[in-house]
Amino acid sequence: MPPAASEIHSMQSEGPAPVSVADSIRHWADQLEQAGVYFGHGTDNAWDEAATLVLSAAGLDHDTPGAGDVRLTQAQLAQIQAYFGRRIGEREPAAYIIGEAWFAGLRMNVDPRVLIPRSPFAELILTDFMPWRTAGPVRRILEIGTGSGCIAIAAALQWPESQVVATDISAAALQVAQANRLAHGLEDRLGFVQADLLDGISGHYDLIITNPPYVPAAQVQDLPAEYLHEPGLGLASGPDGLASARRILQDAPALLAPDGLLALEVGVGWPALEAAFPQLPFLWPEFEAGGEGIALLTAADLAAAQ
Ligand SMILES: C[S@@+](CC[C@H](N)C(=O)[O-])C[C@H]1O[C@@H](n2cnc3c(N)ncnc32)[C@H](O)[C@@H]1O
Repeated sequence: MPPAASEIHSMQSEGPAPVSVADSIRHWADQLEQAGVYFGHGTDNAWDEAATLVLSAAGLDHDTPGAGDVRLTQAQLAQIQAYFGRRIGEREPAAYIIGEAWFAGLRMNVDPRVLIPRSPFAELILTDFMPWRTAGPVRRILEIGTGSGCIAIAAALQWPESQVVATDISAAALQVAQANRLAHGLEDRLGFVQADLLDGISGHYDLIITNPPYVPAAQVQDLPAEYLHEPGLGLASGPDGLASARRILQDAPALLAPDGLLALEVGVGWPALEAAFPQLPFLWPEFEAGGEGIALLTAADLAAAQ
């Protein structure tokens, strides 16, 4: 029988703490449920969220054998208490508290300078964009609005022969992306450019990937409090959320190779995008891991619509 919450608290203040990692996860998962925090920045349930924070404080990995039986020290319990104070009290996303997030199986450093990686682009990249992409090597990739660099890094690793250019308007975000590029050893194949969407970008790319901001500006304040820890630049995009998408659709065709593919994420804004561009034959892949709203358009489709 696991200890009750009150027992855990008293154990924490009375000398050696016979509290296991599993006990602590159970306790804090209950607390997260009761507090009604929002999930969606890396996990989608209280148990996984509690496990992420407790294991991090304990210096353990999810797949460490026997991790649940490890007894927590007083220092670790204090750290856990502080983590959940931030998670529940401040509604800080867990990824910012522990400074890391996972994308396409890759570890990324994250902090409030960058959006927390969660795009369904991970699934498209890991499946080579098949069957939507023309078979053959992807050699030139452009990512617009790279944030932590997660999409650019995953793409560079998926296509080892590729050269990747990734942009962001935020110099602060690019600092985080540079740290992640270094951590993944991609300095020779991934370049970052500070740019306003496609302004000043040249060349022809086999793949243009972008997860730009797409929340209608007036709706940002109504999002769960966790989102308000993220950079506003990563969320809001004009009155209908499509300001960035419109500019990208206008400028991207000139930067696509003849067999190129544009992949543009607009999330729940996909019906609005379809309505705004009835002449474009958008393809909308479905995702096994969840998420929605990535439009695919070939260079030929874009050229035919102009
Ligand atoms: C939704 S976030 C995506 C971040 C990252 N690619 C990901 O998927 O986690 C959008 C990113 O676009 C950047 N951004 C916003 N407006 C921009 C603009 N006009 N030009 C370039 N980047 C912009 C933001 O700074 C942010 O990093």
